[in-house]
Amino acid sequence: MAVNATWYGHACFLIESGEVRILIDPFITGNPTSPIQQQDLSTDYILVSHGHGDHLGDTVEIAKRTGATVISNYEIHNWLLGQGVKNVHPLHIGGGVNHPWGRVKLTIAHHGSGLPDGSYGGNPCGFLLYLQGKKIYHACDTGLFYDMKLIGEEGIDLAILPIGDNFTMGPEDAIRALKLIQPKKAVPIHYNTFDVIKQDAPLWATAAEKETGVNVTVLEPGQSIEV
Ligand code: NI
Ligand code: MN
Repeated sequence: MAVNATWYGHACFLIESGEVRILIDPFITGNPTSPIQQQDLSTDYILVSHGHGDHLGDTVEIAKRTGATVISNYEIHNWLLGQGVKNVHPLHIGGGVNHPWGRVKLTIAHHGSGLPDGSYGGNPCGFLLYLQGKKIYHACDTGLFYDMKLIGEEGIDLAILPIGDNFTMGPEDAIRALKLIQPKKAVPIHYNTFDVIKQDAPLWATAAEKETGVNVTVLEPGQSIEV
């Protein structure tokens, strides 16, 4: 069975692998590029990379409505319990959890993680997903870091990387990231949601493919890629 990844704008992806659905950073309400409403989404798991509103997004509402299990760092796990979310699994950087359908591991990310109400959100993270022999690396919000090379050593099938600049890596550092990770495929994210992160993604994709040989796909919000 295929592993499919659908982009809902900004950093939000729905990963479907066999029977399991994994929603990452569901910023739907208030996202000017989202093609859907949060009510349209159903999922089994929600992964939250850090506490900022454009990543935590609709997590509380979707978790309560669907009963999905939220996987995040320990601090956000505690905060979600305080919000009345029942099914929450805490992880921390470098740690992973095995399920019958695959594995989720947290990676480092260089960024902040304060929650919308000012609560401490611990350290931000990225995600490594191991699904049916495929590996997906979602970098989430981060600057470039050399340890991306270690992540690449795992053999990444799909890398999801921010290119927006200002809050995360910009286009040039994202190309350097591709050289460190050497994934089979890559998709750019975290651009054009707001004016301050406007980028020309097709132009970036052309430059990135030429410099790195990685197969880059620019998705429109709502479009999918097979991993
Ligand atoms: Ni952020
Ligand atoms: Mn962000």
